[in-house]
Amino acid sequence: MAEYVNLNGTLHPAQDAHLSIYDHGFLYGDGVFEGIRAYDGRVFRLDEHVARLYRSALALAIEISIRPDQMRAAILETVRANEMRSCYIRVSVSRGVGLGLDPEHIDRTSTIVISTKQLRLYPQSMYDNGLEVVTASTRVPPAVCIDPQIKSLGRYINNILAKMEANRVGAGEALMLNMAGNVAEATGDNLFIIRGGELITPPTSEGALVGITRLAAMEIARSQGIPVREAPVTLYDCYTADEAFLTGTAAEVIPMVRLDCRNIADGKPGPLTRGIIEAFRVCTATEGAPIYD
Ligand SMILES: Cc1ncc(COP(=O)(O)O)c(C=O)c1O
Repeated sequence: MAEYVNLNGTLHPAQDAHLSIYDHGFLYGDGVFEGIRAYDGRVFRLDEHVARLYRSALALAIEISIRPDQMRAAILETVRANEMRSCYIRVSVSRGVGLGLDPEHIDRTSTIVISTKQLRLYPQSMYDNGLEVVTASTRVPPAVCIDPQIKSLGRYINNILAKMEANRVGAGEALMLNMAGNVAEATGDNLFIIRGGELITPPTSEGALVGITRLAAMEIARSQGIPVREAPVTLYDCYTADEAFLTGTAAEVIPMVRLDCRNIADGKPGPLTRGIIEAFRVCTATEGAPIYD
C-alpha cells in the first residue's frame, strides 16, 4: 500500500510530496513540530500535542495557516489514509518559503507536513531490563537563548550531537546538562528519578521540554500515591537514586538502570518504575482520540 503524506492539506503518495528547497524549515530550522503516537486505533493525548504545537508556533511568531481543530482533523485523516491503527505521527510546520532569514522577505504561508510511520524505538528487553545511559558533553541551550518549551526544528541539532555521543559508546540514550551543570533531560525524553519514595523531575526552567508523557507519568504517580516534585537534578542525584526512568512519546516510559558506567541502585528496573510503566500502558490502550469512528 502507498504511504500517504499530508502536505499543506492535501494527501499525496509520499514519493510525490515535494517541498521547496527554500523552505525556512530546511534553510534555517525555522519551524516547530510534534511527535505523536497512535495506539490501536486511538491517538494518545492528541489535543495536548496540537495545543503544544500552536504554543510553540505562537512563541516563534509563526502563523499556522489552519486552525487547531483543522490540524486535529488533518492528523486523523492522514492516519486513516495510511490505514494504520498504531503508529508514530510526525507533524512539522515551517514559517514559510524564501531565501534569506528575514521573515519580512519570505512567503509566510506556513508549510505543514503530516506523516505516519511504524515505530519501535527500543526492543522489549530494554523495557524489561532497563537502559544504559551516558552523560553527553553537548549541553542544552540556556532557556534565555532558546526556551525549551518551544518544540522547534532548529533546537534539535544539540540533541542530535548528544545522541551521537551515546551511539559512539553503545548507550541507549544520553543525558544532557544545562549550563549550570544540572541534568535537563535526555536527547528526546524527560528524566525522572525516585528517591525515598518520591518522584523528582527537572522543571522546564532547567532546560526540559514540557513533555506530554512526562505529564502522564506525573499524573499516574500521583494517582498511585507517589509524591511528585519538580526540582533541579544533579548527576549525583541520578547516580545515587533509588530508581530512574525516561519518558517520551517515542520511548514511552523506560527504566534507566546504568549511568556513566554506574549501576543505579541494583542496576535493575525498580518497583515504582515498573508500576508506572504498567499504568502507562493501560492509559495508552484506553485513552485517546478515536481514529476510526
Ligand atoms: C527534547 C525532548 N524532551 C522530551 C521529550 C518528550 O516529550 P513528549 O513526552 O511530549 O514526547 C521530547 C520528545 O518529544 C523531546 O524531543
